[in-house]
Amino acid sequence: MTTPLQSVVAAVQNSRKYQAIDPALVAAVAGAELSKGRSLKEAVKATKNQLHQSAAVYQSGRMAYDRWLDQLRSTWPDASVRRPLLRQLMAAHSSTNERLAILDDFYPRIFALLPPIHTVLDIACGLNPLALPWMSLAPDSTYLAVDVFADQVLFLNDFFQLAQVAGRAESRNVLTDCPTAPVDLALILKTIPCLEQMEKDAGRRLLEQVQARHLVISFPSRSLGGREKGMANTYSARFAELTAGWDAKVTRLDFSNELVFVVERG
Ligand SMILES: C[S@@+](CC[C@H](N)C(=O)[O-])C[C@H]1O[C@@H](n2cnc3c(N)ncnc32)[C@H](O)[C@@H]1O
Repeated sequence: MTTPLQSVVAAVQNSRKYQAIDPALVAAVAGAELSKGRSLKEAVKATKNQLHQSAAVYQSGRMAYDRWLDQLRSTWPDASVRRPLLRQLMAAHSSTNERLAILDDFYPRIFALLPPIHTVLDIACGLNPLALPWMSLAPDSTYLAVDVFADQVLFLNDFFQLAQVAGRAESRNVLTDCPTAPVDLALILKTIPCLEQMEKDAGRRLLEQVQARHLVISFPSRSLGGREKGMANTYSARFAELTAGWDAKVTRLDFSNELVFVVERG
């Protein structure tokens, strides 16, 4: 017999927009909606709404991963066109799209504050791994990227192979299944507000689990429409709350639309 949870999960997964989302996340959101006493129909609608707000909203319509991979394969040998193509592909995810204007400055300023980095964990990565050529990683470095879309993960794994990076992408719901192996650097870029839309204390739980000597934690400081609305103040207060009591050295970097904290834990 099909349970209400299975029915809601199946109905959500039936929709193309949510098909590739990690089943554990779909089930977690659906379970939370059913526990509010909603009918099956209401729970399907509310689950889709939540998955839209926290994940699908960042993707610009159809993500043409196969075509992108073909483009990357055919242009990769020519180093002069790599970065322009990667920029074009990063525009398909609103989070990396917003970073394009500051990208040439973003990673150089961050990496200038870091020692040689050999292992990276990119949490709720979106298309940020495509910015690897902008990051000054040690030549032998390994990169683990996690997000909730199975098709995006396949694409990123093909990209790592093409770029000859020792990288791996995995589909994971980081609310319940965050990688905990120690790394030199954890990238938590614009992720905390997104997770905290789903669970109020998700940021704190995430930071308790991540085992990293250095963390780069960022927040949007301007809304998608370009208005400021005190976002930098709100998020710097949230960052202070989340890291209160840490033995850590923190450097704040203010970019035009992103507030970044580079943290070295003691
Ligand atoms: C604001 S975007 C940030 C993307 C990337 N870190 C960047 O700054 O370019 C938030 C990302 O979190 C991912 N996401 C949302 N919920 C998640 C979850 N429970 N586990 C893992 N990733 C999640 C979304 O798919 C999306 O790519």
